[in-house]
Amino acid sequence: MSKTASKPKKAAAKDKAAEARLVPVFVMGKRYEVPDSLTIQKALEYAGYQLVRGCGCRGGICGACGTVFRFPGSYRIEVGLACQTVVQPDMYIAQIPFFPGNKAVYDIETLPPVGATIGALYPEVFKCVGCGTCTRSCPMDIDVLAYISKAIQGDISAVAEGSFDCVMCGLCAARCPSEEVQYNIAILARRLYARHLVPKALHLEKAVMAVDAKAFDQALQELKAKSLDELKKLYKALETEPDIAGDSWTPQNKSYLGE
Ligand code: SF4
Ligand code: SF4
Ligand code: FES
Repeated sequence: MSKTASKPKKAAAKDKAAEARLVPVFVMGKRYEVPDSLTIQKALEYAGYQLVRGCGCRGGICGACGTVFRFPGSYRIEVGLACQTVVQPDMYIAQIPFFPGNKAVYDIETLPPVGATIGALYPEVFKCVGCGTCTRSCPMDIDVLAYISKAIQGDISAVAEGSFDCVMCGLCAARCPSEEVQYNIAILARRLYARHLVPKALHLEKAVMAVDAKAFDQALQELKAKSLDELKKLYKALETEPDIAGDSWTPQNKSYLGE
C-alpha cells in the first residue's frame, strides 16, 4: 500500500461521499476521517492510499485483502476482508496482504491420495489444540476447525468439501496458536480430491479432445474476421443457460460444443 493516489480520483470519491457522515479511523496508527458508508478498502483509498497489494477482486472472492482491526478499550483483535467490511468509528486498521505460511511443494500427479499424505506434508496439523480461533477468524464462515479435524483423521473428501469456500485470505493462519496453515492443508486436500478421487468428467475430456482435434478452429477464424458490431450482435443473440436448469441442459445450437 503506498500513499500516492491521484488527486482527481480522490476528489471524485470525496464528492460521492460528501453526504455521508465522517468517522475517524486509524490506518497503521495515523488518524483519518472517512465516510461511514465505505468499506475499509474504499476508506483506505479515500484517505489517499493507492492499493497496489492486498487488493484484487474487490468482491470477497480473491482473499487478497485480509485485514486486522481493533477498537480502543478492547483487547480483542478482529479480522475481516477489507472489501467486505464497513468502517466503524475509531477502528485501528492494518492490512495483511500476504501471510508467510508454510507451503509444501509436491507433484500432485504422483502424490498418493491417502489420508497419510496430509500428515506427511504438513506434520504440524497434529499440533492443533482445537481452540477454534481459526473458525472464529474466517470471513467466509467456514468451520475451519472442523476441516482441520478431518485432516488429522486423513479424510481427504471431508476436508475438500468443508473448505470449498476458502478464499485463501490467510486470516486463520495469522491467528493460529499452533502455526497451522489451514488454507494450504485445505488446498492440498482439494487437489488430491479433484485429481485422484472424484470420477472423471467425461464431457470435459470429450471437449478437450475436440479442441485438440481442431474442431473449433474454423469457427474461431470466422469470429476473428468479424467486426466489433457483428460480434456484439452475435453475443446478444447467444442462447444462454437459464438460471435454473437441469444437469442435462444443452443449447439448441451445438456447433460450438464440437458436436
Ligand atoms: S486456530 Fe489452529 S490450533 Fe486453533 S483450532 Fe484452528 S487450527 Fe487448531
Ligand atoms: S479458511 Fe482461512 S484462509 Fe480460508 S477463507 Fe477462512 S480464514 Fe481465509
Ligand atoms: S479484494 Fe478480493 S476478497 Fe477483497
